[in-house]
Amino acid sequence: MNFHVFTLFPAMFHGPLSESIIKRAREKGLINVHLHDIRDYTEDRHRIVDDYAYGGGPGMVMKPEPVFKAVETQLARIRGAQPTPRPVPVIMLNPKGRLLSQEVARELTQYADIVLLCGHYEGVDQRIIDHLATDEISIGDYVLTGGELAAMVLVDCVARLAPGVLGSGESASRESHTGGLLQYPQYTRPPEFRGWTVPEVLLSGHHARIESWRKEQSLLETKRRRPDLLAHREDIPG
Ligand code: ADE
Repeated sequence: MNFHVFTLFPAMFHGPLSESIIKRAREKGLINVHLHDIRDYTEDRHRIVDDYAYGGGPGMVMKPEPVFKAVETQLARIRGAQPTPRPVPVIMLNPKGRLLSQEVARELTQYADIVLLCGHYEGVDQRIIDHLATDEISIGDYVLTGGELAAMVLVDCVARLAPGVLGSGESASRESHTGGLLQYPQYTRPPEFRGWTVPEVLLSGHHARIESWRKEQSLLETKRRRPDLLAHREDIPG
């Protein structure tokens, strides 16, 4: 799975992509993250990427030319490298976009190549959104200084669903938001810590009982913390 990230600040990505599971996945070639500096696609001496907003107002707006040139150059390369043509989503990270969820992350795993566009300054020229992006995704109802952190969140949660990225000990099948429920509580040794004990059933070695306890706990956690998640499920009475 290949992520092609277009940004004015490629160095922001170095830390988060160089640790832990994502680092390992990159080393094994299970995912690739290609960082493209939009400024490299400017044609003027000052490498200008932004300009004043038509109509006035505070803040600068990202210009369309370098963004179109950067993305179209790389799209041609990506398509040239694909044995059979496959759709390549061009996702603009944008607080106005559809909300990222586990379901959206799962949907994105179907693509071999994903283009991520990080906006900055006060905004981007609308023509980038209308004529280059095929999708807009927000990571939550708050505004970041730019799309970079949002792109990192998206890469992280999509990449860990790609085949082979999680080891068998890190299965994605039981965690929160898989199957629409929050995860049950987890415990490890010692069985008693500061007088707080591990639920008896987990020490019983009785797999069927453990499984039903976990199911029940998942439901209780979801009912208590996120009843909105249950409203979408028909198999569980509210
Ligand atoms: N850029 C700024 N804020 C954002 C958000 N919440 N989600 C995605 N991109 C953003």
